[in-house]
Amino acid sequence: MDVYEAIRTKRAVRQFADKPIPQEALLKILDAGRLAGSSKNIQPWDFIVIRDRARLKALSECGPWAGHLAGAAVGIALVTGDWRERWPVAFDLGRAAQNMMLTAHEMGIGSVMANIYDMDKAHALLQLPEDKMCYAAISFGYPADPQKWQRPPRRGRKRALADVVHWETW
Ligand SMILES: Cc1cc2nc3c(=O)[nH]c(=O)nc-3n(C[C@H](O)[C@H](O)[C@H](O)COP(=O)(O)O)c2cc1C
Repeated sequence: MDVYEAIRTKRAVRQFADKPIPQEALLKILDAGRLAGSSKNIQPWDFIVIRDRARLKALSECGPWAGHLAGAAVGIALVTGDWRERWPVAFDLGRAAQNMMLTAHEMGIGSVMANIYDMDKAHALLQLPEDKMCYAAISFGYPADPQKWQRPPRRGRKRALADVVHWETW
């Protein structure tokens, strides 16, 4: 699968099969995140790998749309310092997250992000140091419905290129 094909066919997967992710595949996903470019090469991330079902369930309760974490084979919590002090950090974490999700997609592993709204609860749950926070996590797992793993976006689901792109000026 080439890069553009992976980007084109990667869809959010929120229901997962009861099938573990092999360690080798998991390490490749994490490595893809580690290798992301970042502003000033600060690499402002740590990744917490969560497989414990009770912990995944608890993390799934840290955001109103994070329920999919409860059924993931693996959750990866993105941990950083206080990004509000340096806005490029959010951008950097996005790059790491997309690297991980595309690498997983290439291996047939589905994924979807979760915004963590209750950051205090996640902080305690993940036993983070005082100066660290987690505001996003990613669910990974083999899709419950393999048909849903790889499907181009339905018509109208993505803004058209002509709507998005402006040439030279707005
Ligand atoms: C920063 C970010 C946060 C997201 N947070 C959630 C979330 O909390 N819960 C969820 O189910 N999906 C979440 N998503 C997934 C989006 O809903 C999904 O990517 C979007 O609807 C487009 O669908 P597609 O990825 O299948 O093209 C998030 C995506 C991004 C990029």
